[in-house]
Amino acid sequence: MTPALTAASPVERLKGVLPDVEIAALAPLFEEIEELKQRRNAVVLAHNYMTPDIYHGAADLKGDSLALARMAEKTDADVIVMAGVHFMAETAKIVNEAKTVLIPDTTAGCSLAESITGADIQLLRQRYPGVPVVTYVNTSADVKAESDICCTSSNAVKVVESLGVDRVIFLPDQYLGRWVASQTDVDVILWQGSCIVHERFTGAELRGYRQSFPGIQIIAHPECPPDVLAEADFVGSTSGMIDWVKRVRPERVVMVTECSMSDNVAAEVPETDFVRPCNLCPYMKKITLEGIRDSLRDMKYEVLVDPAVAERARRAVSRMLEVKV
Ligand code: 13P
Ligand code: SF4
Repeated sequence: MTPALTAASPVERLKGVLPDVEIAALAPLFEEIEELKQRRNAVVLAHNYMTPDIYHGAADLKGDSLALARMAEKTDADVIVMAGVHFMAETAKIVNEAKTVLIPDTTAGCSLAESITGADIQLLRQRYPGVPVVTYVNTSADVKAESDICCTSSNAVKVVESLGVDRVIFLPDQYLGRWVASQTDVDVILWQGSCIVHERFTGAELRGYRQSFPGIQIIAHPECPPDVLAEADFVGSTSGMIDWVKRVRPERVVMVTECSMSDNVAAEVPETDFVRPCNLCPYMKKITLEGIRDSLRDMKYEVLVDPAVAERARRAVSRMLEVKV
């Protein structure tokens, strides 16, 4: 898990990340955000895909989906502002119902979350009676509530194997599901969902990078299609990829995932050359510094989950959180 940030101010943390003139222009906005955080006893949790101003500046804690869920569960703050997408905010509310959870933009969705409903799971259960349902956290609370256990990209294989069965239904990401199937003997029944960012990468594109940049390291997120993952030197969650770069410190790397990740890590690993194909997540990019300020100032937009749904969804999320990784 990415550790908590140091006591340095946002402006100090951004030195060397953004041009000085840009930092100076943003300073009043950061001051407002910090003052509002104090007043509200709020914490800003940021996903690794946030832009550098948010990731290095406004965030109190940052990480992948699993880390964000654990941080939301443990925080002492009264208010959680989720600088991420809606399912992440909903998960925060599910694991810590007493908190006020805000998302700066309610249209920050996810193509995976949109690909399946709770009713779809009920039909799958009729078709495959007794087969447990493993659900990626990139789903709505309704879908989690119908599931046996959740998983993220960093624990999916361990979660599937923790069940001790020979077959699971894995949804909604067909590519993450195929990746899991390639890493375990458990049979995996797939759903046809996909991520609009990762499905755009191709194996041919990555072979092109190897030709143009001999010796380049290719690291990919498991939401990518199989021909992409076949080219990768490492496959992992967003935090797994960040940790890999910080540990290995390759001369040159391409991070096959959302665009802002390279910007965020390049600032911390200046000796590595990042080749940067830019596939942006349009949902993640709905979150802006101004949106975070407005969210804290006006206490909007509160994310609520029907308590009965939340209780059932919490079983699936908590069961996941108990799996050791
Ligand atoms: P991570 O849990 O690896 O951060 O993935 C979340 C996500 O939405 C990737 O597209
Ligand atoms: Fe969803 Fe893909 Fe965006 Fe992640 S990158 S939030 S999986 S659409």
